Amino acid sequence: MALTASDLLNVFPAGTRVNDRGRLEIGGCDAVELVSEHGSPAYVVAEQDLRSRARAFLDALSSRHQESDVLFGSKAFPCTAVYRVLAEEGLACDVASGGELRLALRAGFDPERTYLHGNAKSETELRDALEAGVGHVVLDSFDDLERLERLAAEGSAVQRVLIRVTPGGTGDTHHAISTGQADSKFGFSMAEAPEAIARLGRSSSLELVGLHCHIGSQLFDLEPFRAAVRTISELGEFQVYNLGGGLGAAYTAAQHPPSVEEYVKAIVEAAHEWLGPDKRLLIEPGRALVANSTVTLYTVETVKRNVSTWVAVDGGMSDNLRPMLYGSIYEAVIADRPLAAGTERCHLVGKHCESGDVIVRDVMLCDPAPGDVVATPATGAYGFAMANNYNSVPRPPVIFCSQGEARVVVRRETYDDLVARDLE
Ligand code: LLP
Repeated sequence: MALTASDLLNVFPAGTRVNDRGRLEIGGCDAVELVSEHGSPAYVVAEQDLRSRARAFLDALSSRHQESDVLFGSKAFPCTAVYRVLAEEGLACDVASGGELRLALRAGFDPERTYLHGNAKSETELRDALEAGVGHVVLDSFDDLERLERLAAEGSAVQRVLIRVTPGGTGDTHHAISTGQADSKFGFSMAEAPEAIARLGRSSSLELVGLHCHIGSQLFDLEPFRAAVRTISELGEFQVYNLGGGLGAAYTAAQHPPSVEEYVKAIVEAAHEWLGPDKRLLIEPGRALVANSTVTLYTVETVKRNVSTWVAVDGGMSDNLRPMLYGSIYEAVIADRPLAAGTERCHLVGKHCESGDVIVRDVMLCDPAPGDVVATPATGAYGFAMANNYNSVPRPPVIFCSQGEARVVVRRETYDDLVARDLE
């Protein structure tokens, strides 16, 4: 199916258009020219889109509930320039490892408004968080609780904590990104939570301020979010509730996730009903903040026609693992004729040595040929984050585009980088 201009608006970053030359333009920059100048593959981020989504979350939440904060679920796009933009916009930050903590603080997030998550935090990660003055640690297990309690007792300050609970319900999503079920590696079950709460009540080095839950990711139905709030309300009354991330993003023209407004409204209403009107409410979107801000640009290397037509590009599962891991579906257009009706059913594939390295199966493209620039939208979430060096393919640069200006914020990896850690 050929994309129409309005479909493009749904999946591509805000401000994307087809310019006077008939080419795809992202953040005011011509996609074909970006590739001539910076090479491919490349992650192209429309900076204004990123900023406006951050504002949409902040406005939606603060207008409905004053005592609140929006945390960037930074695992979705842990890149210094992205952290910096979202810190500038006033978000707080969720980090899930010592590495993310380091990046977030270096990029300007206030430690006080940084939340350390993780189901297997190491002693070093916990020490780093304590030393940095991280505002809250989200406890995930009894081992985690005991370890942090011991480390916090070595210092003088009392560390504030939340406990992560699995409310039991899950949304309808891929099993690998469903996290709310009781049988999960994450969090305390509803049955265990009272014991964790009681233990923290006796702790002199940890102060329990509230609960956290995150039921899953890429969710389109708001009901599981409401149900989770109702369930965790059974654990007693707390000052702070962090209701996680999880709002779905549109990857294809056919997908229509709830808007930020609809999602926030549902959560806030449920919180007011079940938790009370005076609690501190936190949300931590990752995907819905960053997915649609970014487009990956590739160059076609070969076109092979056998039973199917295989359009092979210069990237693939090293820059976007999601199709392979979750069967995720993307759109693809040819950047110098994005609105041309597709003439041929193709499989857009990567350059890696696996038949499963398919970026988009069954996509209609118009006369694909070597040298064409192909754009796949909605790669901002978990694309860069899960990039890898399979087949020793260097990872792509990240290019911010805004009002016609492009700036490379992460350079392309080089072959020298690939051996930079080798000692022999
Ligand atoms: N908070 C916690 C504790 C999380 O575990 C996550 C995501 C988020 C917030 C942000 O969730 P989001 O708003 O992005 O749904 N690699 C997978 C997604 C894994 C999500 C992990 N946790 C993917 O590419 O779909």
